[in-house]
Amino acid sequence: MNAQLIEGKVVAKSVRSGLKPRIAALKERGVTPGLATVLVGDDPASAIYVNSKIKACERLKLHSEAIQRPAELTQAELLKLVSDLNEDKNIHGILVQSPLPDQIDELTVTLAIDPRKDVDGFHPFNVGLMLLGRPGLLPCTPHGIIKLLEHYEINPAGKEVVVVGRSNIVGKPVAAILQQKAKMADATVTVAHSRSKNLADICRRADILIAAVGRPAMITVDMVQPGAVIIDVGQNRVEDSSVEKGYRVVGDVDFPQVQEVASYITPVPGGVGPMTIAMLMSNTVAAAESITSEG
Ligand code: GUN
Repeated sequence: MNAQLIEGKVVAKSVRSGLKPRIAALKERGVTPGLATVLVGDDPASAIYVNSKIKACERLKLHSEAIQRPAELTQAELLKLVSDLNEDKNIHGILVQSPLPDQIDELTVTLAIDPRKDVDGFHPFNVGLMLLGRPGLLPCTPHGIIKLLEHYEINPAGKEVVVVGRSNIVGKPVAAILQQKAKMADATVTVAHSRSKNLADICRRADILIAAVGRPAMITVDMVQPGAVIIDVGQNRVEDSSVEKGYRVVGDVDFPQVQEVASYITPVPGGVGPMTIAMLMSNTVAAAESITSEG
């Protein structure tokens, strides 16, 4: 069997199309949704991610501010910047790119962001709403995964979902969302991780396998149930002297082998990645709607 590709680029485009009338309606009311990104230091990978977020704003004609500060920035200085952005009427979404330098505590910074502007969905207030199954700003990558499944009419209800990886950004929240009593959820979810015994056995139970560990090609074909749906969240750089950049980006799944037995699979790049940015745009628009409707 050759798996059907889950094309994140196509689904991300349809998410953006759905945002356009909402952006137009906001503009009629004199509101342009605005996103501020904050990059501390000069990590090249983080700079690439932030750039792609700003470009996505430009494509949708959203307002954006790309703020960059040196790696020596103090926590107090970053907290002051966040507080100013909380007060800024032109900004509806605040994204502080991680990782942050050692002198800055990420949770302290996340707690300082107005939860209504927390377009990453990382603030404990939004995490709490998510766990309770209440509306709020959902983290972008997990939300993007749900949208991918929805687009391809892969309903997780009643299915065995195995999430490999327990990060706060992907593993934990996607597991929380998929086990809700809700539409496009209602799954039986197992979270496996680096300390799990019999990882291959656990993975083979999955009707839907979500790999979010950050290890190139660690999900091999023997770990996959024939006909399973494979969602690969990995974005790993591996050296490749045959290309100009000197590296390639590969997922957590051994794509060439696994695509022969899976029913659906996300490619890397072009799978989950574009969805993360599309859902960030969606959260920015939703934040602008909810902040400006409060009167
Ligand atoms: N660093 C890597 N991924 C993310 C993300 O989704 N949001 C933020 N703020 N930082 C990141």
